[in-house]
Amino acid sequence: MITKPTVDKIMEATDIVEVIGEFVTLKKRGANYVGLSPFANEKTPSFTVSPAKGIFKDFSSGLGGSAVTFLMEHEKFNYPEALKWLAKKYSIDVEETNDQPEDREAENHRESLLIVTGYAAKFFHESLLETDEGKAIGLSYFKERGFSNETIKKFELGYSPDQWEAFSAKAIKDGYQQEFLEETGLSVKRDNGTLYDRYRGRVMFPIHSFTGRVIAFGGRTLKSDKSVPKYVNSPESEIYHKSSVLYGLFFAKKAIRDEDNCLLVEGYADVISVHQAGIENVVASSGTSLTVEQIRMIGRLTKNITMLYDGDAAGIKASLRGMDLILEEGLNVKIVSFPEGHDPDSYVRKLGSTAFKTYVEENKKDFILFKTNVLLKDAGKDPLKRAEVIREVVESIAKIPDSIKASVFLSECSQILQIEERSLITELNKMRAAKGKKDYQQHQNARQAEQEAAPAYAEPERKPEEQYESQEKEIVRLLVTYGNRVINWDGIANTYIGPFMIAELNDVEFEHPDCKAFVKLYHDELDNGNLPEEQFFIHHPERLIADMAVSMLSTRYELSENWLGMHKIYVPDETQNMKATILGAIFHLKKQKVGKILENIRTQLQTAEAEADQEILMNQYLHMKKVEKSISDFLGSVILK
Ligand code: UTP
Ligand code: MN
Repeated sequence: MITKPTVDKIMEATDIVEVIGEFVTLKKRGANYVGLSPFANEKTPSFTVSPAKGIFKDFSSGLGGSAVTFLMEHEKFNYPEALKWLAKKYSIDVEETNDQPEDREAENHRESLLIVTGYAAKFFHESLLETDEGKAIGLSYFKERGFSNETIKKFELGYSPDQWEAFSAKAIKDGYQQEFLEETGLSVKRDNGTLYDRYRGRVMFPIHSFTGRVIAFGGRTLKSDKSVPKYVNSPESEIYHKSSVLYGLFFAKKAIRDEDNCLLVEGYADVISVHQAGIENVVASSGTSLTVEQIRMIGRLTKNITMLYDGDAAGIKASLRGMDLILEEGLNVKIVSFPEGHDPDSYVRKLGSTAFKTYVEENKKDFILFKTNVLLKDAGKDPLKRAEVIREVVESIAKIPDSIKASVFLSECSQILQIEERSLITELNKMRAAKGKKDYQQHQNARQAEQEAAPAYAEPERKPEEQYESQEKEIVRLLVTYGNRVINWDGIANTYIGPFMIAELNDVEFEHPDCKAFVKLYHDELDNGNLPEEQFFIHHPERLIADMAVSMLSTRYELSENWLGMHKIYVPDETQNMKATILGAIFHLKKQKVGKILENIRTQLQTAEAEADQEILMNQYLHMKKVEKSISDFLGSVILK
C-alpha cells in the first residue's frame, strides 16, 4: 500500500487544472475552468474544473471527483495506479508498506496479472534474441519482414518456443502463481491440473496499455497450414478489455497529438512497418471492428482519423459501419486505399517512407464521398438499389453533429448521386427528426440525474420518499461542507459543526444506504479523534464516499458563477445564518422521521382489531404527535426559511 505521507505529498503537489489539462482543452471562466466533456459527445462545454476545491464535474456524464478520480475514469487506472501516475508527474518518491502477501494479493490482483504479462513479454523477447530456436525461426522471420533490431526492441517482439511447457514450466519455477498464468491466458490447464503453453512456435506481439505496460499478446503462427489459426490472441481478462485497446497506441500517442491525426490500420504488422518508416501516429484495432471506446480514446488526442485500407471490397464494406460510428462521435474520417494486393505494411516497404507519406496525403478521400462511390459502383443502374444508396449516404451524413460540415457533404453528394440537393435535405430532415426524438429522451434522463445531484434547497416539489432521501443527503452535504467549522452561536459554542450534528442525530436512523455509510464514516473518524474536512472526502479511496462528496460540492450553483445571471435562480446564502441552516436541516429530517412513524401507526390503527392494541397504538400516536409539535415549534422559532 502507498503510505499516507506519500499520498498527502501527492495530493499537495497535484494541480488539478494541470493534470486534466493534459487530456482536455480547458478555458478559464471566472474562478473555474471549462471544457468539452471527455466522457460524452457534446458541443457546448459542460465539463467544469474548480481549482479552489480541487475537483471536476462533468454535467454531461454526471462524473465528478478529484484529479485521482479523473485519472481512474479517463485512463482506466485503479487507485494506486492513478496515485503513481501523479507521483511520477510531480517527481515524488513513492513509499509503499510491505503488506502481508495475502493482503497484497487481494488488493493488487490487477498488478499481479500485469507482473505476469510483463514477465512473459521478457521471456518471449529473450527467447527470440538469445535462443537458437528463437533466432533461427522467429528472428529470421522478423528480419525477412524488414523489422530492424531497434523496432524489435521497441515493440518488445518475441518468440514462444515450439514446446508444450517451455513458458509455463519456467514461470512456475520462477515463482509465478498458476492462477495468474491461467487468468492472463498465457497458460491453459489440463484436466489433470497441470499447465501447458497457449502459444507454441509463434512470433509474439505484446499489446501495451495506454501507459505502456504489457496487458496481452497476439501470437502469429509461422506455419502455412490452414488448419491452425493465423493469430492466437489473449482472452479478455481484468487487465485486457479488447474493445478498449488499440494496438500501438502507447507508441503513437505523442505523434497523434503532434500530427493532429491518427492513422488506423488493420494489423500488427501494418502498425510496426508504418511506425518503423517514421510515421508514428499509427494504431490498429487488431482484427475486431472499431468500437466506440476505441474511437473515444483516439478522440481525446485528435479529431482526425485516417483509415488505411487494403483494397479488397469485402473488407471495405464491412468497415463502413465502423466509420459511421466515428462520424457519430464527431470525428472526421478520411480513407486511403491501396492498390490491389497491397496493404500498408507491404506498400510502405515498397515505396519507402517519403513516397508512402505522399501517397497517403494525395489519396485520402473523405469518407462520405468514398462511401458514396463504393455503394454507387455496386448499385450500377438499378433504380431501387440507387435509392437505397441515397438513403445510406444520407444516413451517414445525418450522423455528423456539425451541421455546416453536413451541408457541405450534402451538396457534394448531390453531384455524385446526380440528384437534387433539395431531395437530400428532405431525406436528412426526416432522419434528424427521428433521431431528435431519441436524443430528447436522453437529454431528459440526463437532466433528471442532474437534478437528483442538486441540493435540497433548490429543489422543486418532489415525491415524499424522494424528499425524504434528499433530507438525508442534505445532512451529508452540510457535514462535508461545514463540518469542520467552529460553532459560535448564542447558547452553543466551543464545538464544531460536524460533531454537533452527529451528536444531535444520534437518535436518527439513516435509511439511504450511501448516506448511512457516509454518516457512519464521519462518526468513526470523530471516534478516532479526527475532524474530517472537505478534502478528506474528496480524496477518499472509497469511490462511493468521494463521489458523494463531490456531487455535494459541485452543484451548478457552486461551480457556475453565471448560473444566477443566466437562469435568474436566486440561491439564498446559507452561511448568513449557519444556526438556522444546520438546525433546520437536522430538525427537518427529524420531523420527517416522526411523520413516517405517525404514518405507520395510522396504518396499524386501521387494521388493529383488539381494543387493547388500539389503545396502545393510540397512546403512541399521541406521544409522537407531541414530539412532532415540539419539533415544529422549535423549527418555527429558530428557522427563518
Ligand atoms: P492480417 O491477416 O492482415 O494480419 O489480419 P497481419 O498482422 O497483417 O499479419 P501478416 O501481415 O500476415 O503477418 C489483421 C489483424 O487481424 C487480427 C490480427 O490482429 C491481425 O493483425 N487477426 C487476423 C486475428 O486476430 N486472428 C487471425 O486469425 C487473423
Ligand atoms: Mn499483413
